[in-house]
Amino acid sequence: MVDLSVEICGLKFKTPILPAAGPTVMDGDALVKVAAGGAGGLVAKTVSVKPAQVPRPCIIKVKDSMLNAELWSDIPLEQWIKNEYPKAKRTGLPLIASIGYKAEEIREIAPKVAAAGADALELSTHYLGNDPTPVIEATKAAKETVKIPVFVKLSPNVLDVAQFARAAEGAGADGIVAINTLGPCLAIDIENAMPMLGSAQGYGWLSGPAIKPLAVRCVADVARAVKIPVIGVGGVSTGRDVIEFIMAGASAVQVCTSAIVKGYRIYGLMADEMVKFMRAKGYNTINDFKGIALRHLPEQPLRTTAKPVEVIASKCTACGLCERHCPYEAIHVVGKVAKVDPVKCYTCGLCASVCPTRAIRF
Ligand SMILES: Cc1cc2nc3c(=O)[nH]c(=O)nc-3n(C[C@H](O)[C@H](O)[C@H](O)COP(=O)(O)O)c2cc1C
Repeated sequence: MVDLSVEICGLKFKTPILPAAGPTVMDGDALVKVAAGGAGGLVAKTVSVKPAQVPRPCIIKVKDSMLNAELWSDIPLEQWIKNEYPKAKRTGLPLIASIGYKAEEIREIAPKVAAAGADALELSTHYLGNDPTPVIEATKAAKETVKIPVFVKLSPNVLDVAQFARAAEGAGADGIVAINTLGPCLAIDIENAMPMLGSAQGYGWLSGPAIKPLAVRCVADVARAVKIPVIGVGGVSTGRDVIEFIMAGASAVQVCTSAIVKGYRIYGLMADEMVKFMRAKGYNTINDFKGIALRHLPEQPLRTTAKPVEVIASKCTACGLCERHCPYEAIHVVGKVAKVDPVKCYTCGLCASVCPTRAIRF
């Protein structure tokens, strides 16, 4: 019997799939929809002492990813406390409240949000540069003012994310959330030569599938650097992605961009996909495979040779994607199945990574 439940810092989540701070958790009604969509727990949009003045436009799609300049919530803190958090609490799911940003702001907001019923806090950080002092100060401010667990959400825009995680752990953080969006980035509307986003300098922050490999790397780095639990976020869009983050050491994941694109049902759909994968592999619980990829990372030797790829004929649909992608012209659809030329095959791995039915393997 597959069991997806996880316990993190004493909070019991029915699955490891949570929403991430963003527009899909913008108020209490949205959080109720997230719960109905099958999320294992709730994370609310970041609030700060004053409502945000959000630039417009503030979200654009870039291929299957996004740039945003949404900042934090434009709903006043008092309204969150009076209406939005209580609505979310009535779902019965554990509620993590995201707050920002500076230590003095955290000191003011944290006790109010905890008193409103939040089960844990998430400190949103967005620092560029390599000085973890603001993270340390923000973490200490939260830990000094509340008793509930404090998660610190890290930005990938630093040289050494593990150093920031260690600093947060040293300041008393109970868990790490990795990662926030990547940037700043810029997109230009070539019809009028204007930045597409309405923010200062048109800058925005990248999220979605484009940042997933960066997020998985950060999670692996952080998981090896600290003893406290890590929640992975960045580009999660399928149940297989969730498995990947957990194998890299995450205890749970959060989803923002793909939930915007695919809707509130995504949390339950990803959980179903996880169950199928776990059954096929004989995993009964999340702990059965949590962090199992980490042991291969430090001692992973440089692999400079591989056997030519192999096509599993029964799985091949002759879609031709492998043929179109192969830079070495080494794979061709012949009749109803892809065939590999072992002499031309450079064993680069690209065909296996694009095959939609996983019919190609090393
Ligand atoms: C439109 C938008 C708004 C966001 N707002 C917040 C926020 O208020 N606080 C925060 O910590 N992160 C915020 N994020 C970042 C997400 O929580 C998440 O860390 C990031 O988008 C990576 O996950 P994803 O690839 O699943 O979107 C926002 C992201 C998007 C796309």
